[in-house]
Amino acid sequence: MVIRSGILDSTLREGEQTPGVLFNRKQRVEIATMLSNARVAMIEAGHPLVSEDIYSGIRDIMDLKASGIIKSEIIAHSRAVASDVDSAASLNVDRIAIFYGVSDMHLLYKTHKSKLEALDIIYDAISYAASTGIPVRFTAEDASRTDLNFLRGIIKTAVDAGADRVSIADTLGILTPEKTRFIFNNISDIKGVQYDFHGHNDMGMAPANSLAALESGASIIHTTVNGLGERVGITPTQVMAVLMKYHMDIDAADLLQLKPLSSKIEEYTGINMPANYPVTGNYAFTHKSGVHVDGIISNASTYEFMDPSLLGMHRNFTIDKYSGKHALREKLTGMGIDLKDGEISKVLAHIKSNNTVYSDEDLREVVDSLYN
Ligand code: COA
Ligand code: ZN
Repeated sequence: MVIRSGILDSTLREGEQTPGVLFNRKQRVEIATMLSNARVAMIEAGHPLVSEDIYSGIRDIMDLKASGIIKSEIIAHSRAVASDVDSAASLNVDRIAIFYGVSDMHLLYKTHKSKLEALDIIYDAISYAASTGIPVRFTAEDASRTDLNFLRGIIKTAVDAGADRVSIADTLGILTPEKTRFIFNNISDIKGVQYDFHGHNDMGMAPANSLAALESGASIIHTTVNGLGERVGITPTQVMAVLMKYHMDIDAADLLQLKPLSSKIEEYTGINMPANYPVTGNYAFTHKSGVHVDGIISNASTYEFMDPSLLGMHRNFTIDKYSGKHALREKLTGMGIDLKDGEISKVLAHIKSNNTVYSDEDLREVVDSLYN
């Protein structure tokens, strides 16, 4: 089946690998329901063999899938071992994702296997999983540090064994958009497979690399809400959804659900996003300097890439010594205070002489002290 380009949200799998983060069974179901309501194509719901509560959580999610409440494709993670595959298959998930580290580093120091042995292990695990009739994705862990010829051999082996998707994982976040394109340009001729891209954000490049992957052949991008994941995490769902809409006009998620999702994950993880976080941060559409606010008042597109209302966000601006007369007038008018030009200048002079941010209340006090 050809899947339209979209997002695989892995908040419940990769996201729960964030240091300090654990979801309970009820939270897992709630998060999956919210993600499905946000219309993400796929949800990686966890690695069921890891613990009983993850297993039960996925079972609850599959129950909601059966009753039509959850619509996204539900994926279970699995090592290339029969016990992991059995546990995923027993849940009758929509897809089993089998991962295996394929770089020399991972083969040598993690699994202690030769390349030939690895090919056999990967083939056996995928064909075993595929024999259940459940679609299989193979994840080439550490693909970005893997010799390209060997990576091609791995992909062909995965397809021969019955996988219809392969995820190219930049496990250490070492790629750039150019290097990401180079990999996809060198594997996109392989028949019978569609690609995911899984980009870690160790050097801050995950969203850019994910967009490059999408432009050069990947159809599914892995994300987590608020960019959770091992170490500093992976591509944030809210960033990817907006990148896909802005650059490629792809509706990968209901943009209005991104802020509620971000807030819910903040609540459940205790990790609060900084105000200047892209897309859903409290300052994402808050303007400060006089020249910017003057532009915004005239036409918001001067300084906003998207109308914040499309994201359920609100436009705002702050008043301090960086403000100009247009911003101040707009702010005071909004508060029901109409001043003449000369009076505005006087209030502005007062603001500029104080190195402080003015709340509406502070402003009202200044105006009262000068004019009442
Ligand atoms: N496929 C098959 N085997 C793999 C593998 C893979 N993709 N990746 C690692 N392994 C092997 C290692 O070589 C090691 O094997 P060994 O036991 O023969 O030495 C073992 O899996 C990992 O070591 P460890 O985690 O200490 O083993 P464990 O049996 O106690 O626990 C898990 C295994 C998976 C249950 C446990 O690590 C866990 O709960 N992990 C959370 C999920 C996870 O690690 N996900 C990574 C996603 S990228
Ligand atoms: Zn990862």
